[in-house]
Amino acid sequence: MKVKTLGQFIIEKQSDFPYAKGELSRLLRDIGIAGKIVNREVSKAGLVEILGETGEVNVQGEKVKKLDVFANEQFIAAFKAGGEVCAIASEENDDIIPIDSEISKNAKYVVAMDPLDGSSNIDVNVSVGTIFSIYRRTSLSGAGTINDFMQRGTEQVAAGYIIYGSSCMLVYTTGKGVNGFTLDPSIGEFCLSHPNMRTPQNGNVYSVNEGNYLHFPTGVKKYIKYCQEEDKATNRPFSSRYIGSGVADIHRNLITGGIYIYPTTTKSPKGKLRLLYECNPLAFILEQAGGIASNGNKRIMELDITELHQRTPLFLGSSEMVKVALDFMEKYKEAEV
Ligand code: AHG
Ligand code: MN
Ligand code: MN
Repeated sequence: MKVKTLGQFIIEKQSDFPYAKGELSRLLRDIGIAGKIVNREVSKAGLVEILGETGEVNVQGEKVKKLDVFANEQFIAAFKAGGEVCAIASEENDDIIPIDSEISKNAKYVVAMDPLDGSSNIDVNVSVGTIFSIYRRTSLSGAGTINDFMQRGTEQVAAGYIIYGSSCMLVYTTGKGVNGFTLDPSIGEFCLSHPNMRTPQNGNVYSVNEGNYLHFPTGVKKYIKYCQEEDKATNRPFSSRYIGSGVADIHRNLITGGIYIYPTTTKSPKGKLRLLYECNPLAFILEQAGGIASNGNKRIMELDITELHQRTPLFLGSSEMVKVALDFMEKYKEAEV
């Protein structure tokens, strides 16, 4: 079987965009390279102690960094060196990182990212991920501004995630379907392993942190009870699966069919997840794979954004399952008032 690498695939797909000059291709390639470096470090995470690198200083005399900080720095360095973006927004940085360098002076794009999603899972050897979202800049020249990021999810040019799991995968969309690439560590290349990914219309997995049950809106509580009821026709009860790494939960559900919910809670009345660099990119991927992404009553990608780190509730996954959950939200919306 002929292997197609991410690099080859990106070049082939460039002709989908007749006016493309290769900038987006190069940006995606840069993301792939930074992803490989982060994967290398993530896969060594359990060795840190025995290699004696947990102290203040590592063997190179550098301070040992937490992996989320390391991932953030790797991606920022890749974007700065690549010259295709004029600003970066990251979960790890309060403000945007404007870029105004010689090589970025014609940069057309801005990128928003969650450099390490699920970072509380690193110490226990559970999958984590990186999420990214690419927009065309709206400012005219020089370094990008915060306004470049105040665009709806529908304006995304590309989005994707990398999952550092039992294997490392990069999954992305440019609005023409979703493709998944698995890293072959023996050759150091992402290889096309999941062409044209589609999520099943229906599934039997629901993923939600049920520990917060008491604090959920009534619609979510009723939907969870619905998932637990016996009903042969709809294949219930569904299975509950919650890793606590959003990328891992959503990647599994994308492949097997399922619904992921992070609702509002009394503690987080706006939800926990961030619109710009978690929900919008995951929504773009899921919609491109045939699924639905909603905040409970509106499409995620049509939400207005006014703050870099804006939060939103999220209902994401197989279309038939999300529709049922949204019906419950609609039916019990009065209960909250
Ligand atoms: P991050 O590690 O980037 O802060 O994100 C973690 C997110 C998401 O990946 C996960 O699904 C969710 O938070 C888990 O939250 P709870 O522990 O509240 O369930
Ligand atoms: Mn996250
Ligand atoms: Mn994170």
